[in-house]
Amino acid sequence: METDKTVLPWRIEDIDLSQIVRLHVAINEDLLLLLCAASFIESGSDLYTSNLSTFFDGDLEVSDWLKRHWENEELQHGRALKAYINYVWPEFDWDLGFKHFFDEYSKTCSLEAFEKSWALEMVARCVVETGTATLYRAISEYSDEPVLKEITDHIRNDEVRHYKYFLRFFKKYNQIEGNNRFSVLSTLVRRVIEIKNEDLEIAFRHVFSIRYPEKVYSGACMHNKIARVNSLVRTHISADMCVKMLLKPLDLPAKIQPILQYPLAKIAQHVFFR
Ligand SMILES: [Fe+2]
Ligand SMILES: [Fe+2]
Repeated sequence: METDKTVLPWRIEDIDLSQIVRLHVAINEDLLLLLCAASFIESGSDLYTSNLSTFFDGDLEVSDWLKRHWENEELQHGRALKAYINYVWPEFDWDLGFKHFFDEYSKTCSLEAFEKSWALEMVARCVVETGTATLYRAISEYSDEPVLKEITDHIRNDEVRHYKYFLRFFKKYNQIEGNNRFSVLSTLVRRVIEIKNEDLEIAFRHVFSIRYPEKVYSGACMHNKIARVNSLVRTHISADMCVKMLLKPLDLPAKIQPILQYPLAKIAQHVFFR
């Protein structure tokens, strides 16, 4: 794995975790669940990169960027969140939770889960980056702890930049493939619906079983906690930003976009983190 510091736009090692007022943050169990679930998914990114690189094998620009930038940045997101969790909740066994998560998660990542063409897979990537950019912005808005704000702002900037790369790659491929708006829209809608389901569900389950081993068999208890975390995110979500990003691949005429913006923002608020 490449860890050349010149490759990363920021470094978790440069952030002073000792500025965190530990006891103030540590009482927030919802935050632990949320950060941990996010850190597990981010930390599984290397598996995804190798699948993506295989899928885009033949386009050196894309596979090179994925390997040299995207993967390192996503893995740093996982490391940064893990460092924060270890500092605030040192009793939480992150490594064990991640091991259990990864055993299950790795079985769900396969090449079959990819879209049927390069352009449409780039649409799917745009949806994922929109989801993560929206999530980290919401965490930053929610938190009143400066170090977490700093970390999540850095991560959000990375996710927005990833989105811009994937959007550019989509346009490049779509000039060749010529997918119409309907195919792009149906990919967008399907991926938005899928976005939270499986990955987050697996992550939450494994965080939960480490944090509350005595309640692991109580589905209702876990369901309640996940609902609380989702509502925390939903309350701080920037639906406008999210919808603007989602609509870009459709390349809608300038007159239509503002008309769709408001109703879609309302829908997005309910679809993401419902
Ligand atoms: Fe990320
Ligand atoms: Fe990303």
